[in-house]
Amino acid sequence: MSETITAGVIGGSGFTGGELLRIIDSHPVLTLDQATSRSYTGKSIGYVHPNLRHRDDRFIDPDDLSSVDILFTATPHGVSMKHIDEYVDVADTVVDLSADFRLSTEEQYNEWYDGHSAPDRLDQAVYALPEINRENLPQADLIAAGGCNATATIIGLYPLVKSDVITGSEQIVVDVKVGSSEGGAAESQASNHAERSGIVRPYAPTGHRHEAEIEEYLGVSVSFTAHAVDMIRGASATAHIFPEQPVTNSDLWRAYRDVYEDEPFVRMASGGGGVYRYPEPKVVAGSNYAEVGFEVDPGNKRLVVFSAIDNMMKGSAGQAVHAANIALGLDETAGLESTGFHPIGAP
Ligand SMILES: NC(=O)c1ccc[n+]([C@@H]2O[C@H](COP(=O)([O-])OP(=O)(O)OC[C@H]3O[C@@H](n4cnc5c(N)ncnc54)[C@H](OP(=O)(O)O)[C@@H]3O)[C@@H](O)[C@H]2O)c1
Repeated sequence: MSETITAGVIGGSGFTGGELLRIIDSHPVLTLDQATSRSYTGKSIGYVHPNLRHRDDRFIDPDDLSSVDILFTATPHGVSMKHIDEYVDVADTVVDLSADFRLSTEEQYNEWYDGHSAPDRLDQAVYALPEINRENLPQADLIAAGGCNATATIIGLYPLVKSDVITGSEQIVVDVKVGSSEGGAAESQASNHAERSGIVRPYAPTGHRHEAEIEEYLGVSVSFTAHAVDMIRGASATAHIFPEQPVTNSDLWRAYRDVYEDEPFVRMASGGGGVYRYPEPKVVAGSNYAEVGFEVDPGNKRLVVFSAIDNMMKGSAGQAVHAANIALGLDETAGLESTGFHPIGAP
């Protein structure tokens, strides 16, 4: 592959598509070659994403797609499984941001979604989250970026599973609060400003589809609930774990350090000083960082774990580029070095 790697984005006019375009804009190796939108064909990408007004690229129709080295697909559930043969024909590597290739089996898609139209491709797909799957990413040609709620949950709990603090038999309750950008750019009654503003709205008290993803990649069951809250970017996961054996702070620090010490995009925020003593989506907004923190209750009966990400970065586009960098043999932080802002208004 040449030093410049050409990239395409299907669904470039959407929220995560826009985030991919923003990352590619400052990526040292990836160069945007084409971005699609059926609704905005012919319009400049800055017309939809004003932060990219300096670029003169225009959206093309997905039917006019031509060869690129890497293709990111940021489309609603069901689109990429339908078009996957076309996508792999035009690109050496496909990174899908939807749920279409995250789970391993057709049976899971029958149970949690509405089935799958390309089940033969499921074996080929590699789950993107580098913190748990880095070794399988080099040379992967079909990569499935994780769901944002699942990513926040998995990042928070993975070190505890790896160190056997969580064995799978204890009760684990996870509550995720997520901002409005999670729902994408398309309008709906629930997402219009009058209905969405000011809410703390439980939207999936039980049976959230990300439960399947969490269970598959974490290897333990969790009871999962999600709330839509009044922020634009961000997912904050709070996990309550009722351990069967007493755990100490030093056990927990060891577990998290063992796994995350060398991770470029995970930071601990666990009860230190200052205002932001625990993970907070506002602090990581616009960055690819995940923050993780924990506390054990004084009676040692409950362990609380917090994790925070930007749903459009670590929870989708940032994670997708991180995995792509690894798959392509690039510096894994390329294009993702920016930190969040402080202070900042509600993201
Ligand atoms: N938003 C998040 O925080 C987040 C986090 C993790 C994962 N995801 C997943 O990422 C995917 C994209 O999410 P999003 O929030 O960016 O959605 P979005 O804002 O609604 O954008 C969807 C994009 O797909 C295009 N599109 C729709 N139907 C298409 C079709 N049949 N063929 C080609 N293009 C089509 C749309 O543009 P045109 O209609 O103009 O073509 C638009 O550009 C979803 O599967 C979502 O579940 C999102």
